[in-house]
Amino acid sequence: MGNQIKVRIAENSQAAANDVASEFARAIQCKPSLILGLATGGTPVEVYRKLVAMVQNGQVSFSDCTTFNLDEYVGLAPDHHQSYRHFMQSKLFDHVDVTAEKTHVPSGVAEDLYQECEDYEAAIRNEGGIDLQLLGIGENGHIAFNEPGSEVKGRTSVVDLTENTIAANARFFDTIDHVPRKAITMGIGTILEASKIVLMATGRNKATAVARALSGGPGADSPASYLQSGEDVTFVLDADASSELPDALIESAEFIF
Ligand code: PGA
Repeated sequence: MGNQIKVRIAENSQAAANDVASEFARAIQCKPSLILGLATGGTPVEVYRKLVAMVQNGQVSFSDCTTFNLDEYVGLAPDHHQSYRHFMQSKLFDHVDVTAEKTHVPSGVAEDLYQECEDYEAAIRNEGGIDLQLLGIGENGHIAFNEPGSEVKGRTSVVDLTENTIAANARFFDTIDHVPRKAITMGIGTILEASKIVLMATGRNKATAVARALSGGPGADSPASYLQSGEDVTFVLDADASSELPDALIESAEFIF
């Protein structure tokens, strides 16, 4: 069993993004060669916007950092406008001083997807593991594309997306039929090996998943609940995402403004 998950609650999503961006910037300032684990989705967009501003005004530099993204859709080429590689380029990498070869996103169009998963794990291992991992959470409690029922010891692999996740992600595609059905994702076991994990969640639609992840013990119904066995895990929430937390967790949370 790990240490208790720390919870920080911000009054709104902007304040939550500020908090997460500042934590990442501080970590890079302390260790310029930081190995970062990065996430896609709507939640981290504002975090990346703030980090870009900090790089552009000289507060922080990604020049020695290495990055590993959590996941990628199977079948989308890196230049596809909905691929996660494209997301990372347009939201962060193209605007900061990171070295292109040091940014890693699994390839969803690798000829041998299973080899791609093995190679991805090996690349993380070769860098000595992830220092600081950013996560979002799905409405169904998924982390990366580890859907309910995923193995706690799972490694990077090819997975099927659930109907719930396909529906949630349809907002980024022309029609729901364009949403890929499979993805490559770091496994829960891979994620739990990061030295430090920051999960960010904003909005009422995440409140139930957040409350379940933090209470009731680790269980396969909520992949995020396995973070309870992590050594150094922090949830950064806005008020809406924290709105279903039990009183005891609210009382022990730190409030940020
Ligand atoms: P979102 O996705 O940030 O777009 O809500 C998070 C997730 O599904 O992990």
